[in-house]
Amino acid sequence: MRIHSLGYVGVESPAASEWLALGPDVYGLEVEEKSDSAGESVLRVSWDDRAYRLAVHPGPDHKLAYIGWELHSATDLDGAVAELRAHGVEVTEAKPEERADRSVRYLFHFKDPFGNRHELFSGQLTFEGRFRGGHYQSQFVTGSQGLGHAVLVVPDIEQAVEFFTRVLGLKTSDITRVGGPFSEMWFLRAANPRHHSLGLMGMAGMSGLQHVMIETKNMDAVGMAYDAAHKAGLPISSSMGRHIGDRMLSFYARTPTGFDFEIGWDSIQVDDGSWSAQYFDSAEGWVGEVWGHEYSHLGMNPTVHPVDPQHS
Ligand SMILES: [Fe+2]
Repeated sequence: MRIHSLGYVGVESPAASEWLALGPDVYGLEVEEKSDSAGESVLRVSWDDRAYRLAVHPGPDHKLAYIGWELHSATDLDGAVAELRAHGVEVTEAKPEERADRSVRYLFHFKDPFGNRHELFSGQLTFEGRFRGGHYQSQFVTGSQGLGHAVLVVPDIEQAVEFFTRVLGLKTSDITRVGGPFSEMWFLRAANPRHHSLGLMGMAGMSGLQHVMIETKNMDAVGMAYDAAHKAGLPISSSMGRHIGDRMLSFYARTPTGFDFEIGWDSIQVDDGSWSAQYFDSAEGWVGEVWGHEYSHLGMNPTVHPVDPQHS
């Protein structure tokens, strides 16, 4: 199975409505308030012509609600579902109202070994030419590369890697041994040139969404967001810097909805046919960054929770 790209991410938070200002004012994104099929409000955050890329649902806790993976076609989707079932994964076809809530034509869902809900879809509603953004240079790298990337904290990195590479078919771009409370970080790509669509950070006993990354087409948009984040009083989780690995120039801010948000520019792209996984190790003197990226609270945020005993 080759998943094409990361299509959307859904979260819950008691502070969901903060995105109405945060999206346009800090990041230059568009935010639309909608009602779902149960009559609940949802904030749809867009950074291209898709109906949304991030859905923020009001809820009692900060938590990851779902991750949406895009397949090229309904045929590919059927094939992926059959493969998952052959691996013993319980996959459910979505009801018509669930498809409507996600604005997709075809939809299935399943859980990973840690209880996170994943969705496989094809045909997300698109409004060609609609996206304008909140800043004069609001242009983001999406298209074949999907929304950007999401990074999960997982309680068992080996179990997670087994599932996401051998069952879900993602490929390894980089492996890093971080040190401290973390075991390893794995950077996994889908069938597109983005260096990683999913990052996994191993941390005993913990599970959740560490951050979501969006990539701009120009450096100024990162600087403008940096200024705006300061002005909005967002805690800066990591100062500006450039990563080793994907070589992204970026910074991270803690959103009022619990998870961290990375906005970056100038990542490398990966040739799927020729890339070999890189391995970095802090114990061998690896520093992790080309420059910058001073972290104030690497890994932990209110969207990362102690593991549900059901999934430990
Ligand atoms: Fe990232």
